[in-house]
Amino acid sequence: MSALLLTGIGELTTNVGGLGDDPSDALGTIARAALVIDDGRIAWAGPASAVPEEWSVSGDPLDVVDVGGRAVVPGFVDSHTHLVFGGDRADEFEARMSGTPYAAGGIRRTVAATRVAGDDVLRARLAGFVSELHAQGTTTFEVKTGYDLTVEGEARLARLAAEVTDEVTFLGAHVVPSEFADDRKRYVDLVCGPMLAAVRPFVRWIDVFCETGAFTPAETERILAAGAAAGLPARLHGNQLGEGAGAALAVAHGAASVDHCTYLTDADVAVLAGSDTVATLLPGVEFSTRHPYPDARRLIDAGVTVALASDCNPGSSFTSSMPLMIALAVREMGMTPAEAVWAATAGGARALRRDDVGRLGLGARADLVVLDAPTRVHLAYRPGVPLVREVYRGGVRIR
Ligand code: NIG
Ligand code: FE
Repeated sequence: MSALLLTGIGELTTNVGGLGDDPSDALGTIARAALVIDDGRIAWAGPASAVPEEWSVSGDPLDVVDVGGRAVVPGFVDSHTHLVFGGDRADEFEARMSGTPYAAGGIRRTVAATRVAGDDVLRARLAGFVSELHAQGTTTFEVKTGYDLTVEGEARLARLAAEVTDEVTFLGAHVVPSEFADDRKRYVDLVCGPMLAAVRPFVRWIDVFCETGAFTPAETERILAAGAAAGLPARLHGNQLGEGAGAALAVAHGAASVDHCTYLTDADVAVLAGSDTVATLLPGVEFSTRHPYPDARRLIDAGVTVALASDCNPGSSFTSSMPLMIALAVREMGMTPAEAVWAATAGGARALRRDDVGRLGLGARADLVVLDAPTRVHLAYRPGVPLVREVYRGGVRIR
């Protein structure tokens, strides 16, 4: 494949501090910029007026694309989704909008629908979601299991998820399935033993829904320890529906991320600030459950690393749109447009402990979005407008 010079970039967000026009800008923003992509990676980024001669002499083997003054941002990194499932829960959403509260128990309805769905059905659904993600600029995404909750079934979901992403998370501890309602301990034993062994070849992470109505702090600790013993680092669902032990447990177990963080005490914020655990905020959930939005400002001001993700799932947040997450974070959660774009790209990469994505610096995978806008600010300024014009993944145009 020949190298590609992407030029005429009105505003380039690299997320590489020091690479930008203003050395103190964490987003490494360059005006009137160009990028060189070689072998699927970023080979050079800088002002269009300064493209090194080896790349600027046009002709073989350099292709040139002029994006006409549009803004370019790194491809979005959605570090939290639940995309392998059967069925639909529009009725629950409708009831919520008339005042019925969200309850974690709805997960069991999706479990029932997923268990009876064939591989072909789940695979086709997944393909539809992947195309939805790409169309909205997401180039890296995580997918969790957790809607089957049997040994063979969780392994099946993990295997199907692994067909579309390297970032698969084992969430056998989503809820206790009805058939174990009277013997939670036996279900936790199953998760920590045969289920973990069955999914292990397909997954990279372990997750637990640590919340009233799902798993207790003690159960969470057991499951994370079993995951660690099997070589799986932790990520956690915590502090979604009320205050609880999730954030503190995530930090204590060295989790890459604690997700939701809607209800945090000052002590939780302080513990997160002193850790490497990312706080991943999922504003699609608050949109769809009418809970209050998490206070991103409080977290950022305390020094916590914040990521944004969609949590796309049929219950609490049935959207796959990272531009919508950015708009909500800016309008409802006290983030600046720059912070929200960083959180949806570099923040997501941090939450997945990846340094090859979420940035457009030397050596990074060439995953990027050309926006139909002069600046990334439009992602929040023009909510709901399809601004994703072109998407490149590994240097290949996929949109
Ligand atoms: O992240 N919190 C747990 N799991 C999902 C909800 C899943 C569902 O309601 O089906 C979430 O919000
Ligand atoms: Fe989730």
